[in-house]
This record gives sequence, C-alpha cells and structure tokens, in this order.
Amino acid sequence: MFYHDKKLMYDVKVDGADPQFAQLLLEQFGGATGELTAALTYWTQSFHVENRAIRDMLQDIAIEEFSHLEMVGRMIEQLTEKASGAVKDAAFKSTLFTVRGIGPHLVDSQGQAWTAAYVNEGGNVVRDLRADIAAEAGARQTYEALVKLAPDEGSKKALVFLLTREVSHTHMFMKALESLGKLSDPLFGNVRPDETVDLYFNLSKDGPLDMRGPWNSEPAFRFVERPEPQGQLPQDVENPDDERHGHHQAHGIETQRVETGVTREVNNPADQHQDFSRSASERNPIE
Ligand SMILES: [Fe+2]
Repeated sequence: MFYHDKKLMYDVKVDGADPQFAQLLLEQFGGATGELTAALTYWTQSFHVENRAIRDMLQDIAIEEFSHLEMVGRMIEQLTEKASGAVKDAAFKSTLFTVRGIGPHLVDSQGQAWTAAYVNEGGNVVRDLRADIAAEAGARQTYEALVKLAPDEGSKKALVFLLTREVSHTHMFMKALESLGKLSDPLFGNVRPDETVDLYFNLSKDGPLDMRGPWNSEPAFRFVERPEPQGQLPQDVENPDDERHGHHQAHGIETQRVETGVTREVNNPADQHQDFSRSASERNPIE
C-alpha cells in the first residue's frame, strides 16, 4: 500500500524561469540515469531478494528515489511555468516545452522517451547491488554536470542535495555487499569459474607502456606477457546461397588453404575456369 505526503522531501525553490535548464533537468526525470530509473530499478529488485534486511533497504531507497523524482519534477515545473512574456518568447520556443507544454515529461534532455531498458535488475542480490553502485555513479555524474550549469542558488542547492543522496545510497549498497562478504570478492553465484580466473592477458602491447598494478600482479593475478590463442581455427562454412561466380573467378584469383591452415590469396591465371560450383570443403579439404 502506498501513501503520498504532498510535502516535498527537501525544499525546491527556483528563482526564475529557465526552460533551457529545465530541458537539461529532464535527464534526471525521464533519462537513463534519472530518478524514475533508480526508483523502478530498486523497487523491482526488492521482489527477488531473499535477505529481508536488504529487501527492506532496497524498498526504502526506491521510495526515496520517487521522492527525488517529485523534486526534479517540481523544479522543471517551476522553471517552465514562470516562462511567460519576454522570457517565454526566446527561451521557451527553443525547447521541447513549446510543443509538450510546461512541467516534466517522461523524456530525457534530448526528447528521447524513457524506456524500461534503463532498468538494470537480475535476480541475484550481488549482481543487483553491483549494478546499483554503477547506477548511482551515473546519477551522481549527471547531477554534477547539472550543478555546474544551475542558473540560480535555489536550483543549485536542491541539486547538491540530490547528488549527496546518490553518494549516500552508494555507501549503503557497498555496506550491503560487504555484509554478504561480496564487496571485495569478485566471485558470486553457484557456478565455479575455471582455471583461467586469475590470468591477466597483456593484449594491448607497447613495451614500457605495459603498465603493472594490483589488477595484474601476484597474488591476485598471473600476468601473461604474450598471450597465445588456445583454440583452433574454425572450420570452413558451407553456405549454398553464397556467391560462387563472383569477381574472384573473373580475375583468376582463388583462395587456397595452405598447410599452416591459414587462408591466403594466390594468383593463378591457369585456373581461370575452375569449377566454383564445388563446395568449399571439396575445394579446400581440411588436412
Ligand atoms: Fe535519487
């Protein structure tokens, strides 16, 4: 059961009209990192968490995010409803509020509709809490960009409050992971990883620029200086619908498998009229 208290969680007092800033604020109303995304993510996650304490935390934070959504919506409302007369003429006409009307809409700052694809939830509490830390990082970063652009002190104060709460939530999610012993342990779930779990592959190579750190050093990791492929070449594919009388024949060029198993192009004018209707495996038997 839900109740709604009409009082805001935290005061939102915007000084004047600023439809352009209001449009940027939509990012936190109907955008990927926005409050609706956060609220519905934590709320949905809470249904598949067995741990009653963590479920309670997710539900408390979900409802707080709805309170944030209300604050952002109220800010957008004020920044657009006061746009009348001279202000309205210039700024209002350059924003989506001209066609969508004043107040918030479920779109982001570019007018893209909110989508449930923004919601990151899985069915394993560790997986979900890790996604939540990433989500809070995204929200915090968007608020920082908005704080820098805030047109007045009232807007700035409210946005700093919202940014602060995302930091608080991050800390709570980290503590929840810690309580499960999963803050610093990368393993979770019920499938044991294989023996490659502690290998670090040095795949971007540039001598002295191959940097080392705890992420690729003992005791956590074995550094593989020159990684080699462990698998075989894939078998040739047969596709009866593929082109068999194309320009390779016209130019007297065919592909030929050599003993190393590597395919290379060879120039063979004598074979200009070779029968290309044969299958790939007939032409190039695998040794
Ligand atoms: Fe929030």
